[in-house]
Amino acid sequence: MSPKREQQTIVVGVTGGIGAYKACELVRDVMRRGFRVKVVMTESATRFVTPLTFRTLTGEPVAVSLWADEPDAKVHHISLAEAADVVVIAPCTANVIAKLAHGRADDMLTTTVLATEAPVIVAPAMNTHMWRKEVTQANVSALRARGYAFVEPGHGALACGDVGEGRLAEPALIADAAQAEACRARDLAGVHVLVTAGPTHEPIDPVRFIGNRSSGKTGFAIAEEAARRGARVSLVTGPVSLPDPFGVEVVRVTTALQMRAAVLARFDSSDVVIASAAVADFRPATFASGKIKTADAPDAVVLARNPDILAELGEANGGRAVLVGFAAETSDVVTYAREKLAGKRLDLVVANDVSGELGFETDENRVMFVSADAAEELPVLDKRVIARELLDRIAALVDARKSL
Ligand code: PMT
Repeated sequence: MSPKREQQTIVVGVTGGIGAYKACELVRDVMRRGFRVKVVMTESATRFVTPLTFRTLTGEPVAVSLWADEPDAKVHHISLAEAADVVVIAPCTANVIAKLAHGRADDMLTTTVLATEAPVIVAPAMNTHMWRKEVTQANVSALRARGYAFVEPGHGALACGDVGEGRLAEPALIADAAQAEACRARDLAGVHVLVTAGPTHEPIDPVRFIGNRSSGKTGFAIAEEAARRGARVSLVTGPVSLPDPFGVEVVRVTTALQMRAAVLARFDSSDVVIASAAVADFRPATFASGKIKTADAPDAVVLARNPDILAELGEANGGRAVLVGFAAETSDVVTYAREKLAGKRLDLVVANDVSGELGFETDENRVMFVSADAAEELPVLDKRVIARELLDRIAALVDARKSL
């Protein structure tokens, strides 16, 4: 992802429906709110409104074909994907929703959407029966679970003569959603977020260790999302096979003691700590410097307790930084989460039930946000969506702390 510029850019995707004419009003509204707008059209959309209309409104080239001459040195759909602070598709047909839900990229718009890391807002418009069809609703649900936002279609007379749901939402409503998303895109500017991720490995000898199945997906998704929203992010991670998120300080450690040292070195400058790591509570009391021979296998491995990093931060914190812990539980999730909340002096605990298939290693998870007086249960969501939801709550806590 490229560093963000001063004026934020909204990429407006227009697909082939009669509502395409309302996209002209949307573009003007978004521009009046101070955003730069770049328009991408599908071939079908050009049957309803010409690219020249949007070019005249925006003063920018309009992208339609993947094969046209590039206006800049970079591959066009990639430069558009990187330029976008938010992508809005209005109107979005059932066909394009289906393509997005299945990751298809066969034209300029769907290729741009697949390549972007910016949030995507979809404003559907179609015949009411097409909108209500199970397959369309399944595609919408799949996209929602992956973090796409929807501005629901309105109810009324449709171009086909039917009356019902399916009309493109009013341009002002869609522009409100785009503006809100663009503001969210910067809500952690100036905030230092420290994230722990992954497992720790506690060595027995040079080739054996005690560890757990954490993949780091949760912590990396949080770090990536926090960076996208403008935070300065430090990610202290145990051994995982994920690449460094763009623009994030990544500190790779192996053991709990190393994780503690890396976290403590960054704590004083941190405004928020999010401890998603599955830190090993114990380590082998002794380390054999040579590989233990099979014949010499000990009857037991004596364990020593590892320090509780988060509890240490809670004690030193004095209410300064926002502290968020995770709780992986197999029963009585809320009760144990509240014990951790109080015991480690945290602001929020993200509790997950790891007794089933979700939690460790999976792309999705089901979590609860547990505070002293509330427990908010989320549905099964992609870990990137959970990261977004969590950072929404944390941004509010940071604001509240600032205003104290
Ligand atoms: O990495 P993934 O595959 O995406 O999996 C995600 C996850 C299941 C690992 C994650 O959602 C999760 O639940 N992480 C915390 C797991 C855990 O170790 O919980 P805990 O109850 O043991 O610890 C409670 C809190 O104290 C955690 O925030 C933990 O980071 C912290 N802790 C624990 C022990 C210790 N010695 N030091 C700590 O800082």
